[in-house]
Amino acid sequence: MGSVDGRVALITGGESGIGLATARLLVERGAHVHLVGVDHEALRAAGKELGPERSAVSVADVTSAAQVRAAVGEALDRFGRLDVVFSNAGIAGDIAGIEDYSEDVFRRVLDVHVVGTFLLLKHTLPHLSRGGSVIINSSVVGLTGEPAISGYAAAKHAQVGLMRVAALEVAARGIRVNSIHPGPTDTPFQRAVETAATGLSEVKAFEAFNSMIPLGRHATPEEIARTVFYLASDDSEFTTGATLAVDGGMTI
Ligand SMILES: NC(=O)c1ccc[n+]([C@@H]2O[C@H](COP(=O)([O-])OP(=O)(O)OC[C@H]3O[C@@H](n4cnc5c(N)ncnc54)[C@H](O)[C@@H]3O)[C@@H](O)[C@H]2O)c1
Repeated sequence: MGSVDGRVALITGGESGIGLATARLLVERGAHVHLVGVDHEALRAAGKELGPERSAVSVADVTSAAQVRAAVGEALDRFGRLDVVFSNAGIAGDIAGIEDYSEDVFRRVLDVHVVGTFLLLKHTLPHLSRGGSVIINSSVVGLTGEPAISGYAAAKHAQVGLMRVAALEVAARGIRVNSIHPGPTDTPFQRAVETAATGLSEVKAFEAFNSMIPLGRHATPEEIARTVFYLASDDSEFTTGATLAVDGGMTI
């Protein structure tokens, strides 16, 4: 099995869901993690759970250049190096057809996912070690379309463009950049999207989404974390610029 032993990973949106599951797995497998997010209380709890030896946290909104720069500086001060970056912070935006979709929300969704990922790349790439790995958490709807999620789908597609450009820009330094494309993954974030999208109860909405997935079920955050681990480790050392679907077959 590949290793992340001794590596330092910075994870945005690391205080919950897929980000926290990834932090747990990387720490279990020997890495240090620096979690960056906006939920102070959840960050504090995550830092306490993972322990001060192996983790640290910064409060930062990924849409703020100054806050991203400061958070990266704090990670470097604390751990002295940076090997893995997981761009994972995200918001869902409206669930509404384009005609009814709020312009302000559309701009904010692009800001968090696209400008946020750009700022993270801008401020981490100069510090990434040779052999480093960047993983961008896009979505199955970064590769496909669905009604009523124009902001989210546009943002998730745009992350693929950023990923491809970055992969080419840093390849000569031996740094890899890839995106992952999870299908519905069982987190409170996704449960809220599903009830809003279907108008059903949480349980019925969850079942309705299961029936849309060829493998017949949601992913767990831990399954997505194992995909991030693969891309972070040397087992994927010749993989860069890839869009890796982890979606139970939704893009077939
Ligand atoms: N759950 C799914 O089904 C699914 C599927 C595909 C992709 N994704 C993507 O995975 C990522 C994580 O989603 P999740 O399901 O774990 O939900 P989540 O809500 O637990 O994770 C999102 C995290 O991002 C943080 N965040 C939000 N705005 C931020 C900002 N401006 N700056 C910094 N941090 C911010 C939140 O505090 C939260 O910790 C998101 O990018 C989401 O789009 C999720």
